[in-house]
Amino acid sequence: MSTPRDSFSSKFGVIAAAAGSAIGLGNIWKFPYIAGENGGGVFLLVYLIFIVLVGIPVMMAEFIIGRRAHQNVFGAFRTLSKSRRWRIVGIMGVLAAFFILSFYGTVASWTIEFLTLAVKNSFEGQSAEQIATMFNNFSSSTWKPLIYHLVFMAMTAIIVIGGIEKGIEKYTKILMPLLVVIILYLDINAVSLKGGFEGIKFLFFPDFTKLTPTLFIDALGHSFFTLSLGMGVLLTYASYFKKDTNLTNTSISVATADTIIALLAGVAIFPAVFAFNTEPTAGPGLVFITLPNIFEQMPGGYIFSILFFLLLGVAALTSSISILEVVVAYLAEEHKISRTKATIIASSAIFATGVLCTLSFGPLKNVHIFNWTIFDALDKIASNILLPLGGMFISLFVGWKLNKRIVFGELTNYAGIKIKFFNLFLFITRYLAPISIFIVFLNGIGILKF
Ligand code: TRP
Repeated sequence: MSTPRDSFSSKFGVIAAAAGSAIGLGNIWKFPYIAGENGGGVFLLVYLIFIVLVGIPVMMAEFIIGRRAHQNVFGAFRTLSKSRRWRIVGIMGVLAAFFILSFYGTVASWTIEFLTLAVKNSFEGQSAEQIATMFNNFSSSTWKPLIYHLVFMAMTAIIVIGGIEKGIEKYTKILMPLLVVIILYLDINAVSLKGGFEGIKFLFFPDFTKLTPTLFIDALGHSFFTLSLGMGVLLTYASYFKKDTNLTNTSISVATADTIIALLAGVAIFPAVFAFNTEPTAGPGLVFITLPNIFEQMPGGYIFSILFFLLLGVAALTSSISILEVVVAYLAEEHKISRTKATIIASSAIFATGVLCTLSFGPLKNVHIFNWTIFDALDKIASNILLPLGGMFISLFVGWKLNKRIVFGELTNYAGIKIKFFNLFLFITRYLAPISIFIVFLNGIGILKF
């Protein structure tokens, strides 16, 4: 089969690609800010439970479907089931990808601005308030954020058109570990800040009075978002896994790496939040208004701030290409459009929606959809509704629809490896994961109250 998608993924180091997709702005930008909005430690606890009980099993389910079918989401469900109703997973996935990339570009534009500020040494001598003002002034203005947003989308599109993921992949293998080293260095400096320990307490000691229905849905939604789950990205990557790839271990490794990076980001940010008296509930700007305060004080801060924002941009890019790819694969393969044309159409349409997200911090600040700004609305609809529901269907498909011998075969590599937890896995995919997603979902949208 010579679909354009083959040339994308087969050249990729697929497992590294899965991690590259998972590790992104979700870990460094989103995790700290929604943990901060949801009371810190208690959010972390619920989020970790969802990663283990729902995230890892659903990732395994995506891997099972993808490797078995050797196709993208639409083709996979078409091959494995006669019923057309599973197409819903693919359709919701394309919609989620569209929404996610729209607001992802906004955050990427902030990253580019902070990179330029770092290069100009603009953080030096600035108070925490002044840094927050820099962020607010930039994010609420009109043209510059839009231009940076456009630059980011264009880079994403060029990589997807040019099929140069392989080159990118080579660099990511060096650059992502470097990002981890920089975050570790930030961590050391953050925890030694005066008053910084408060931040560690905030992140690691749960305060159960902060439990709310929103917390559950935010934690569930974020576990899908951060693992790139629920819209078939990992399913598609798995269609290129080798016969001897251990699906269970791969899921656990990707989830572990992803979680560690989020935690390291939290350990850098919360001590600084408390030491510099900013608010953990500052919202989407949290990382940007917090970290420059540490850079300003630490040895080598100038160089590290440049490297940090540069590598954050690279991490964003390796995730954004995986998101755009979903929409492009859909257009190219289901509607028989050339790959280049599909990429141009998809990225232009996504940018158009992205403009609204970016402007929702400035001129469109007062436009609300269900009480949310446009930016928040697209995030909540995609992360808290579309991804979990997609994951629920994927889980049900593997639990109930797919032949048990196939599920067992994929997990054991057709007797190449032994597994002990097969019944547990079936129980999770049949009942535990779908039911908990459904309850959290009903609870989150207010139909169920407890
Ligand atoms: N997981 C990425 C992050 O944390 C974002 C992402 C990439 C994503 N591909 C995805 C989210 C697919 C959901 C689905 O930044």
